Amino acid sequence: KRLILIGPPGSGKGTQSPIIKDEYCLCHLATGDMLRAAVAAKTPLGIKAKEAMDKGDLVSDDLVVGIIDEAMKKPSCQKGFILDGFPRTVVQAEKLDQMLQRQGTKIDKVLNFAIDDAVLEERITGRWIHPSTGRTYHSKFAPPKVPGIDDVTGEPLIQRRDDTAEVLKSRLEAFHRQTEPVIDYYAKKGIVAELRAEKPPKEVTADVQKVLS
Ligand code: AP5
Ligand code: ZN
Repeated sequence: KRLILIGPPGSGKGTQSPIIKDEYCLCHLATGDMLRAAVAAKTPLGIKAKEAMDKGDLVSDDLVVGIIDEAMKKPSCQKGFILDGFPRTVVQAEKLDQMLQRQGTKIDKVLNFAIDDAVLEERITGRWIHPSTGRTYHSKFAPPKVPGIDDVTGEPLIQRRDDTAEVLKSRLEAFHRQTEPVIDYYAKKGIVAELRAEKPPKEVTADVQKVLS
């Protein structure tokens, strides 16, 4: 299966991806995770991306298309993939179509994580992450056994630099202005399934499974 997960910041893309990935043996390609790794490693790509990310703006199309083009060549992605956070502009969607056309494949389904903006601030400001695995917690909705500590490794959890109420406003603006048109782009192809993303995580998982079965 070749899937795209689209939704605003905090809608649950990163929470659902590992579950879908394991169930269908897909690779999980999250441009945000890849960019944060590049920023942490201070690679040339990371240095270019950092300013936009800290402000909650989108990184340039060329940079992210380059990352995805490279990542999709991995053997583990040949059977199928989940794109989480990409494409986020119509230009990125067109470039992706061209890439897939060259390989003789196409996107099967676009899962639209629909949710009201009003619930997102609490989700974003309460999020805690285990940096090396991307495992995600929430202080209220999905708390770790010990606050600030990863359940599996016992290592410390961190909060993302862009997970503030202030930066969230810019991220939401970018979503509505630049990413919502991507949903229309795929709706015209008849491959969008809308999910209600404000439901509890397990119910969202069940809805995803229904769409994919
Ligand atoms: P990115 O990392 O993609 O961030 P985002 O799109 O803002 O999405 P999030 O990761 O914040 O949300 P999520 O849907 O994964 O939520 P999660 O499941 O963790 O991008 C970051 C930046 O990188 C961008 O701003 C941009 O600068 C750049 N970038 C990335 N891709 C790009 C691209 N293609 N082009 C240009 N620039 C790009 O859940 C959030 C919290 O809620 C968690 O704490 C979780 O535990 C909790 N939660 C999840 N589901 C539920 C539920 N059902 N009920 C209650 N709580 C829940
Ligand atoms: Zn995410």
